Amino acid sequence: MKILNLYAGIGGNRKLWKGHEVTAVEYNPEIAAIYKDFFPDDEVVVGDAHQYLLDHYKEFDFIWASPPCPTHSDIRRCGVHAGQYEAKYPDMQLYEEIILLQNFAPKDCKWVVENVKPYYKPLIPAKELERHLFWTNFDITPTKLSDKRVHNDIVGSHEVYGFSLAKYKHPDKRKLLRNMVNPKLGLHILNQAQGIKESVTEQDTLF
Ligand SMILES: C[S@@+](CC[C@H](N)C(=O)[O-])C[C@H]1O[C@@H](n2cnc3c(N)ncnc32)[C@H](O)[C@@H]1O
Repeated sequence: MKILNLYAGIGGNRKLWKGHEVTAVEYNPEIAAIYKDFFPDDEVVVGDAHQYLLDHYKEFDFIWASPPCPTHSDIRRCGVHAGQYEAKYPDMQLYEEIILLQNFAPKDCKWVVENVKPYYKPLIPAKELERHLFWTNFDITPTKLSDKRVHNDIVGSHEVYGFSLAKYKHPDKRKLLRNMVNPKLGLHILNQAQGIKESVTEQDTLF
């Protein structure tokens, strides 16, 4: 498949996608360089994923978008009430992308937009898996992954899902690691887009 991986980060959701042609878009050059190191065969575009989607949504068989979650997350709501953060408008680019894909994606294109569970009722109904919401144009079945990772316990020196950032100089490795979608979940969803029914849960040899 020809895949577009938007807001790529260091590639958590992408890690177990094998045998596909992947274009990744990440606007932070240091993060994009780490991604390229992990996935040298991918084409990595350093640029704005939101604009890239608008310009290229017709060109792919599968599109994954993980737009930034900070203005939607419950951490924001709690932080505002605790006096830690300023209130911010929820970033509507999330919904812009969903509406664009719902209405204009070519009929053979499978797409998924991923975000955290928001602190408000989602403006467009979504499917909930693990700690995420997914908007898709294909069915996704629930899965219970054997994720032993405790999200809040991650520190920058940890190896998470097989990703170690030890050799990189990035100032916030913890954030890069915590931002990742579980690769098994990324594979589960890609499988579902392709009509592959086998469960990823049992594939413990993947790690
Ligand atoms: C939640 S993380 C993505 C995590 C990724 N899906 C994974 O599983 O590893 C979001 C990423 O999008 C990047 N980003 C934020 N705004 C962007 C934009 N407008 N264009 C491209 N990348 C952006 C951030 O630097 C961050 O690395």
